[in-house]
Amino acid sequence: MYTRIQRSAAWLKGKMNCKPTSAIILGTGLGRLAHEIEVEQTFDYADIPNFPLTTVEGHKGCLIVGRLGGTPILALQGRYHYYEGFSMKEVTFPIRVMYELGIRTLFVSNAAGGTNPDFKVGDMMIINDHINMFPEHPLHGKNFPTGPRFPDMSEAYDRELIALADSIAKEKGIKVQHGVYLGTQGPTFETPAEYRMFYRLGADAVGMSTVPEVIVAHHCGIRVFGVSVITDLGIEGQVQPISHEEVQKAANEVQPYMADIMEAMLERIN
Ligand code: HPA
Repeated sequence: MYTRIQRSAAWLKGKMNCKPTSAIILGTGLGRLAHEIEVEQTFDYADIPNFPLTTVEGHKGCLIVGRLGGTPILALQGRYHYYEGFSMKEVTFPIRVMYELGIRTLFVSNAAGGTNPDFKVGDMMIINDHINMFPEHPLHGKNFPTGPRFPDMSEAYDRELIALADSIAKEKGIKVQHGVYLGTQGPTFETPAEYRMFYRLGADAVGMSTVPEVIVAHHCGIRVFGVSVITDLGIEGQVQPISHEEVQKAANEVQPYMADIMEAMLERIN
């Protein structure tokens, strides 16, 4: 596994003409954030040695090297979801490759169903913490030398980055929510009873990604900042039928605001 990671990283290192230290994972419907990036190089996942191939609609699989607000950035357009049949090792493979490439700050975005009754469709939720409900753990098996066997998770989402995002949102007059993201395997959206259960367990939003990548990034010592776009509501009495297209549409509308915040964050941390 380590050799496979190294091989992908070495291939990319040989081709990349800059060395970014920050990366963004563009989630469902947020792939268009890539338009805000001054693209310098694009690598299709299919061309990178050992990268698994993506399948789902709305997830174009490529790795972008470019600049966001002048800062060098690596962006993953399209991620690997567990529900597609990928193993957790595959889902988190790009994170390990990015670590080898020198990435030390990771921005993750996703679309999620809001379970907190204060939330509305189109809200941006800064992720304070998560609940891992995936049936397989990304660190299952022999421990990777990037981190300890029993990793501390008391601050999986970097508090300094959260505070920075809060102050930028305030300056720009952009409304943000905060909460706990619960990651579950999908591919079904939740039944009303499941949304209620997740809310009672402590979730403010629920989605099918992010948690595995964040765990592995944290294990590598990469600082993580995460945002969920609330694309539908799993609130008692407000659960509506929902489709992937609606999720993408709602996520698309929030993109400019998210890009704005992330751009300002990158400028200030670099
Ligand atoms: N549940 C799970 N995943 C999701 C949802 C949801 O309601 N919305 C967007 N992704």
